[in-house]
Amino acid sequence: MEMTDRFLRACRREPVDHTPVWFMRQAGRYMPEYRAIREKYSLLEICYRPELAAEVTLQPVRALGVDAAILFADILLPAIPLGAGLEFAKGEGPVLGNPVRSMDDVRALKPVDPEINLGYVMEAIRILRAELNGVPLIGFCGAPFTVASYLIEGGSSREFLKTKTMMYAEPQTWHALMEKLSAVLADYLVAQVRAGAQAVQVFDSWVGALSPQDYEKFVLPYSQWVLQAAQAQGVPVIHFGTNTTTLLPLMKHAGGDVIGLDWRIPLDLGWTLLASDVAVQGNLDPAVLFAPLPEIKTRVQDILRQAGGRPGHIFNLGHGILQHTPVDHVKAVVDMVHEYSPVGIENL
Ligand code: CP3
Repeated sequence: MEMTDRFLRACRREPVDHTPVWFMRQAGRYMPEYRAIREKYSLLEICYRPELAAEVTLQPVRALGVDAAILFADILLPAIPLGAGLEFAKGEGPVLGNPVRSMDDVRALKPVDPEINLGYVMEAIRILRAELNGVPLIGFCGAPFTVASYLIEGGSSREFLKTKTMMYAEPQTWHALMEKLSAVLADYLVAQVRAGAQAVQVFDSWVGALSPQDYEKFVLPYSQWVLQAAQAQGVPVIHFGTNTTTLLPLMKHAGGDVIGLDWRIPLDLGWTLLASDVAVQGNLDPAVLFAPLPEIKTRVQDILRQAGGRPGHIFNLGHGILQHTPVDHVKAVVDMVHEYSPVGIENL
């Protein structure tokens, strides 16, 4: 009998039969089923059509046997009703045509009611809950810092120079923007939980660009607002970022029942820095999925050994699945995680 609640149990640091596993970006271009749908529809069209978003969400659940589904959507969808614009230009990633650079731009952002303006996301969640047969559904949003960085830069960035310049040179503008975003993102997560999301993840993917001092002053209170609004709904909340070795204690302080770790820090060291009263998620390097299976196996076992069978480990990658990842390797990792956990001497 498969345990369908091992993901939710692990989020609460309860004992499980096998370590749960799912993957950030588990739906996407590495899967032939996804590419077949993308031939006919754009990324945004898939998001806008709840039946398609639900179908794409289910693809990796069927193909891989993961222990959780993550809603198919994007962290930048709220930029559309806010009025910042959103397009996915070929090969360029997201482009926001109406970026936020001044206090006037912040004031011009439109009010957002997620139930109405992002209602298609809630509809996808309702469809999925009926179709998932007990596999838990994770909702998500971007954290205020990471979403703000896209709004300010107008797209992806390496240095976050416009973002940091607003922070350091126009702190009032920065704080006004973060307040607006936090309110919208908190409402958005609450709406997802009301629609049926059984856990939520907050993606602060690029927060590792900041020093701990700047994180504490310019980001922490806003992340806390969003994370705690979701936690107040009674569902497990996963707080994820990359390059966060020096930020982990502050991220834990901001909130989350589970903290996501990337591969730059050994899982056991990350868990030690966080202390044992929080669960952890991670942290295989997504590039390892391109290695031969015996190498993958060694590294999966190493992560499980570091978790040491302690309750509260959710296996995942340290960041999203990369394009061109071999699907059979992803499936093999799911099977390895289940086979080699719980960790026992006979297993490893
Ligand atoms: O994980 C899942 O399977 C659910 C779907 C999901 C998408 N985006 C769909 C998507 C999730 C959880 C996201 C989150 C997201 N989006 C993040 C945070 C996670 C992370 O990777 O750090 C960020 C930073 C974004 C913004 C974004 N969306 C970028 C930078 C890009 C372009 C990069 C790329 O891979 O092309 C996207 C596009 C996007 N969102 C794709 C998918 C599947 C690309 C595939 C496509 O165009 O069909």
